[in-house]
Amino acid sequence: MSEISTEPLVMPIANEADIVAARQRGRTMAIELGFAGCDGTLIATAISEVARNILLYAQRGEIILCCVELGGRRGLSIEARDSGPGIPDLRKALTDGYSTSRGLGLGLPGSRRLMDEFAIESEVGRGTNVTMTKWVR
Ligand SMILES: Nc1ncnc2c1ncn2[C@@H]1O[C@H](COP(=O)(O)OP(=O)(O)O)[C@@H](O)[C@H]1O
Ligand SMILES: [Mg+2]
Repeated sequence: MSEISTEPLVMPIANEADIVAARQRGRTMAIELGFAGCDGTLIATAISEVARNILLYAQRGEIILCCVELGGRRGLSIEARDSGPGIPDLRKALTDGYSTSRGLGLGLPGSRRLMDEFAIESEVGRGTNVTMTKWVR
């Protein structure tokens, strides 16, 4: 395997342009890692969903993109974190169609389906942390 940087890339999210930048950078990293173009697009979609949630619910936060290698597999891991209001009921938030903002309520459950690994931690009054990884197949 050729050398791929495993240095995490921290991208602040505080406006629309930041979402676009994180989405584009994620797609580029995915392609560099060897993902097919369609998977790069799915990854970019998951990144924009969690980045949009940061902007909408927490106003600011960051997206951290990191190339990972485990047991000979390569993947892209994405962390979205904020110190916003947090999510009182994670089970509800992960249900298709649940939205507190009259959105489609598909951002979290959809991202979970698009990625291979998905975890969310949230504490009311402290913030939210979503981590997800997709592996190159
Ligand atoms: N970073 C976050 N901080 C606080 N609440 C969040 C965050 N992300 C998601 N949520 C909550 O989870 C719900 C579901 O999120 P999502 O599936 O993206 O749907 P939508 O954004 O369309 O409402 C949101 O309506 C919101 O209540
Ligand atoms: Mg959303």
